[in-house]
Amino acid sequence: MKRIATIAEMKAACRRVTRNGKTLGFVPTMGALHEGHLSLVHASKARCDVTAVSIFVNPLQFGPAEDLNKYPRTMERDTALLEQLGADLLFTPGVEEMYPTGAQTYVLVEGLSDKLDGASRPGHFRGVATVVAKLFEIVRPDFAFFGQKDAAQAAVLRKLVNDLDMDVEVVVCPIVREKDGLAMSSRNAYLTSEQRQQATVLYRSLLRVQAAVDHGERDSAKLIEIGKHVIANEAGAKLDYFAIVDLDTLDPVVDVSHCALVAVAAYVGSTRLIDNVLITASSR
Ligand code: PAJ
Repeated sequence: MKRIATIAEMKAACRRVTRNGKTLGFVPTMGALHEGHLSLVHASKARCDVTAVSIFVNPLQFGPAEDLNKYPRTMERDTALLEQLGADLLFTPGVEEMYPTGAQTYVLVEGLSDKLDGASRPGHFRGVATVVAKLFEIVRPDFAFFGQKDAAQAAVLRKLVNDLDMDVEVVVCPIVREKDGLAMSSRNAYLTSEQRQQATVLYRSLLRVQAAVDHGERDSAKLIEIGKHVIANEAGAKLDYFAIVDLDTLDPVVDVSHCALVAVAAYVGSTRLIDNVLITASSR
């Protein structure tokens, strides 16, 4: 695996791949890698000749009161994991490389960026869309792999690629979970052992909603009440949002007769966690 820190070198390495007629897969991350990230690398390797991964903790997507400074950074371990997995290129730019003094261009997917996590984290999706647009231009991948874990992010990025006619196919991969159902996340590292137990409430609330759908409930308002109730019963958790929305527009749906995204965000201690399930016709 080749590790590259400059944009010029990364562009050159990626262009060599595609000029030789090989397909290039790309997995953007902020590091502190876990099985969720690694599943994206596996998916890329299964589908593409060459796989590039980026590790960049993007300051632009963190709010002023958020965890940019304490975000886990485990570069050596990450590098070893990616090497083991057989990633080909690892891009690890510094902040000044990505945002040199004087940079003034941002990418905003209007509307979508203010929904779900965007409503709770103003400016977050502008930061995500800007860095991903830059990374896409640097790497110019054929396929880019993202996790369903960040469902709103996936919707924003699908729209970005579509609206800007980018030549990249966005592939969204399933959520990887711990044995007890907790969705893997770099932020789980913040949890104390008690909070780690409490954190399972997100998935439990989603399973309860899924069970109600399986028993015939279709009314989103009622399903949301069921989900909120589960969260309210966990003393250690504080709800941010519980929503049932369209997968692409992120707008609320009134009933779940068609495919719908059930998404939850909650604080456990000061750690904000998110999770979701997709309710499809086949699951009923
Ligand atoms: P990060 O949180 O590091 O996540 C990188 C990718 O891993 C994202 O596509 C995310 O959805 C996916 N992922 C995280 N946890 C997962 C899980 N449990 N199962 C499956 N996939 C999972 O998302 C970001 O970084 C950033 O916003 C980024 C896109 C890199 C832009 O800075």
